Amino acid sequence: MMYFQVVILAVAAMLAYYFEFTDTFSPALQGFICRDPSLTKPDPGPEQDGRLQPVILFSVVGGLPVLLISGVELVIFLLHYNSDNLYDQDTVVVMGDCCYVNPMVRRTFRFLGVYIFGLFTTDIFVSAGQLVTGSLAPYFLSVCLPNYTALGCLDTANFVSQSDACTGDADDIMRARKTFPSKEAALSGYTAVYLAMYVISCVGSSGGRLTGPLLSLSLVSAAMLTGINRMAEYRNHWSDVIAGQAIGGAIAVFLVVFVVQYFKKRRVVSHSLSDSGTADTDEASAQTNHCMDVSDKYTVPQSPGSCTEVT
Ligand SMILES: *[C@@H]1O[C@H](CO)[C@@H](O)[C@H](O)[C@H]1NC(C)=O
Repeated sequence: MMYFQVVILAVAAMLAYYFEFTDTFSPALQGFICRDPSLTKPDPGPEQDGRLQPVILFSVVGGLPVLLISGVELVIFLLHYNSDNLYDQDTVVVMGDCCYVNPMVRRTFRFLGVYIFGLFTTDIFVSAGQLVTGSLAPYFLSVCLPNYTALGCLDTANFVSQSDACTGDADDIMRARKTFPSKEAALSGYTAVYLAMYVISCVGSSGGRLTGPLLSLSLVSAAMLTGINRMAEYRNHWSDVIAGQAIGGAIAVFLVVFVVQYFKKRRVVSHSLSDSGTADTDEASAQTNHCMDVSDKYTVPQSPGSCTEVT
């Protein structure tokens, strides 16, 4: 089961790599209308010249969750170090003598593992969307540099569909053909929603009534600003940004609700069934599952927000 998850993660990473760094797949070639005002914005140049440099975006998207989640988990662990039942399901599950993993470390890896999986998934979704739609950037005609004389649209608004209509730099044109949805908006939206939900469930009201909401709002605002920056620099249309944020947010909500289940601590059913007579078999199944994630059938739903509460 554990290996299976590692394989899925590796496949997702490989696919994301192919989309991101190779020309294995090329975007659909869309035509355009001569002098379309929505496509004639000035060329903002390569991504590195933008106000939000890719290096910064990718460091935040990759590093912030690691810092935030391991930090919060460490604080929860230290605050409740002496209470017996903070991680009670883990003491059942990890009791076997094969290996012992600190429950705090287990939780941290689970939440970060799901996060990274979602990050790759968002990247793949968005890259595939960009290639399939081949939607044109607002600055497309500024890098395409079509010869309007040769295309016969000196005074009419022809639709140009020839694939060789452009005379500009091939790399710039390729960049201008991958815009819908916006990858930057999707990744920042995904990170913001995932972390905001983590903060709401796990920080709750400990550390002041406003800490959690304030932190969540800041994350979401940073993602919004990322999207606005994309539009302000004419790198994306507003529809690209909205679609990107919707995809990223939806993947985050899906993972939080169905996979990490609001970051709840998981509880083994055999614990609560101990008087029903089936306890022995359940106990046995739980035992054989130690060292890996408890599968969902051994969990019972709890009320959200119980992350730091000792029940
Ligand atoms: C545009 O096309 C016309 C007609 O084919 C040609 O005479 C002209 O030199 C071209 N202009 C440029 C800038 O390539």
